[in-house]
Amino acid sequence: MMIPDRSMRLDGRVAVVTGAAGGIGAAIARQLSAQGAQLTLMDRTAEMLEPLASEIRSAGGRSPLVLGCELTDEKAIRDAAESAVNAFGQIDILIANAGLLLPNATLEQTQTAEWDLTMNVNLRAPFLCARYFGAPMLKAGKGAIVVTTSIAAHAPNTTASYGPSKAGLLALMRQISVEWGPRGVRANAISPGLVRTPLSARFYADPASVARRMERVPLRRPSEPEEIASVIGFLVSDAASYVNGQEFIVDGGILNTTLSSSAPVPAP
Ligand SMILES: NC(=O)c1ccc[n+]([C@@H]2O[C@H](COP(=O)([O-])OP(=O)(O)OC[C@H]3O[C@@H](n4cnc5c(N)ncnc54)[C@H](O)[C@@H]3O)[C@@H](O)[C@H]2O)c1
Repeated sequence: MMIPDRSMRLDGRVAVVTGAAGGIGAAIARQLSAQGAQLTLMDRTAEMLEPLASEIRSAGGRSPLVLGCELTDEKAIRDAAESAVNAFGQIDILIANAGLLLPNATLEQTQTAEWDLTMNVNLRAPFLCARYFGAPMLKAGKGAIVVTTSIAAHAPNTTASYGPSKAGLLALMRQISVEWGPRGVRANAISPGLVRTPLSARFYADPASVARRMERVPLRRPSEPEEIASVIGFLVSDAASYVNGQEFIVDGGILNTTLSSSAPVPAP
């Protein structure tokens, strides 16, 4: 009997990671490169990505294409997709990971411009990335998309614009999974809990407040970015070939504690 190949190897596949200069994005890039993928790394500027690109080259990974791309600019996203297709001839994997968490603000404090910026980066940009990087996937009849959402899609956050943007992103992922599943393109979401990165640095400044936050996490610690990346590595691989339209909550169990505590938790 033939043993089916359901391996996590990504040799011969081209993967695009947005927000790759950030904490979680860099970990995703290292993970997918270790699985054998050819990477296209995107962030605001190419300079931000050079240290990661040279680290991947030194580690023996395939040399990444590095693209500066402002994600609020539709033309920049379209051009980035064109560059990646010109370089590699195909796109197999898109990780729409870049995201923005503005300073704490209640609904009444939130300026319309702040709301719009959050929606632009966290929801409109993944839609545009799916449109332009997804086109070659649909043409080829295969591909895998993962969007980085957040537990804030389920539990209100100290920045009022953030959760709604991530809940919208979950709905976008489900829409993609239903429209593009029949055409060979899977879409899933990963929702991290508390991960220590530049985005969440302000929540880790005060040791007493960190200790209080960790009391709410059943695993009693924040996650390492690598613990998010490894689940994404599974989701985009053939090991997850029948997984489509799902949200993977990787939060150490914190969402389950909501009913057992009265204190509100700021959860980026
Ligand atoms: N850190 C956490 O605790 C946490 C928890 C839940 C979800 N998330 C989500 O994980 C994802 C990655 O977050 P992170 O913690 O690595 O944050 P990070 O700030 O370290 O990285 C985010 C990256 O996105 C890029 N980016 C932001 N706006 C952009 C724009 N307009 N154009 C181009 N690039 C842009 C930034 O330059 C940055 O490199 C985000 O979507 C975030 O919302 C993070």
